[in-house]
Amino acid sequence: MIDTLDTEIDFLLDDLPDVAGTFRELRARKPAIWGRAFGEPALLLLSHELVQAAFGAEDVFPSADFYEQVVTDVLGRNLQCMRGDEHKRNRALVSPAFRQRLMPGLITPLLAPVAHELIDRIEDRGEADLVADFTKRYPFIVINRLLGLPEHSEEEVRRWALTMLDIQQEHDAAMKASQEFIAFVDPILQQRRVDPGDDLLSTLATTEVEGERLTDEEIFNFLRLLFPAGADTTYLGLGNTLHSLLTNPDELALVLSDPGEHCRWAAEEGIRLNPPTTWIPRRNPTDVVWHGIEVPAGASIMLGVMAANRDPAVFEDPDEFRVARRPGQVTTFGFGTHFCLGAHLARAELQTALEVILTRLPNLRLRTTEGVRITGTIHQLLRGPTSLPVAFG
Ligand code: HEM
Repeated sequence: MIDTLDTEIDFLLDDLPDVAGTFRELRARKPAIWGRAFGEPALLLLSHELVQAAFGAEDVFPSADFYEQVVTDVLGRNLQCMRGDEHKRNRALVSPAFRQRLMPGLITPLLAPVAHELIDRIEDRGEADLVADFTKRYPFIVINRLLGLPEHSEEEVRRWALTMLDIQQEHDAAMKASQEFIAFVDPILQQRRVDPGDDLLSTLATTEVEGERLTDEEIFNFLRLLFPAGADTTYLGLGNTLHSLLTNPDELALVLSDPGEHCRWAAEEGIRLNPPTTWIPRRNPTDVVWHGIEVPAGASIMLGVMAANRDPAVFEDPDEFRVARRPGQVTTFGFGTHFCLGAHLARAELQTALEVILTRLPNLRLRTTEGVRITGTIHQLLRGPTSLPVAFG
């Protein structure tokens, strides 16, 4: 039982127009704050130390305890819903394709061509909305091609992926999209089992660890996780980084002075300051006293990624966007057992997209700043700009 809350703020229901500012004020009071989530008491962790520690405390706050309650029927039992040996086995089977050393090999044949194709479509126009025309398309196409799905299906797969994400608001539509997606992928998977190519779906179909392969269902569940985990996050992260660059002319000038050198760090700093996931949810199965905090069983815990990334104890002038900062301790990709599988891919995607955008669209600038801001969706869980109207040339 929580007797008294530190704040009456409901982190999920209240309109928080300045989330970063709200978190800053709360963190100045305490590193962990009891407030509300959907009316119920919820513990929001705000300091870098506690957020990092909670990600690492899989035994106290198992990822599965939260995720298996909310996502299973639409997305299936995926890595986030697994614990212990089951997680280890599934993760070992999918991780070879996401190793850091493989990423440079993806840039030239896959990532850069996708980015160039998207710029080809807007280059002559002299203006564009970088969200609708670029960021909201790029990572979906990347995953589609990585899997080796037919290129003519890219738009349909993107629609299914976006609809599946709407689990909470439009459950029936999300369920239908999920079933249609599986019906579409199933015959392709069966074909890759017998006649594999050099794509990710073939790797998933054929990889063995200790004589075991992934079942069809495990592959479908992994694929359905790839889009929310890999595409939505990346598109928002790219939008957030572009927003920071376009609203900080000195930083943009620095990056333009040597895009090959600075784009990587601009992206890292962009998703430090404005991570696509504001916080990551957890639930604890039993009563615990953790870091001196009494947490009753079943409480809602929110690992405040953005708050941790802006903790002044770790980052100097944490609310400023500084490409030269080269932040080393971001919590953007989580930590520990469930550390983001696609972190290296995401970084390669962001770096490549920025390099292509900035070198192909000279004199890139916002057409207006009115209404152009980073906003939250799904109760502030995901954050990014809804549009980036730009002019160039
Ligand atoms: C900027 C982009 C991205 C961000 C900010 C991000 C963030 C995260 C975070 C915070 C987690 C941990 C969730 C938790 O502990 O509950 C996670 C897990 C995961 N991410 Fe990412 N991610 C990004 C891109 C990607 C990409 C490109 C992929 C793959 C294509 C991917 C695949 C995954 C998977 C499969 C997991 C679950 C891992 C597990 O449970 O073992 N992510 N991501």
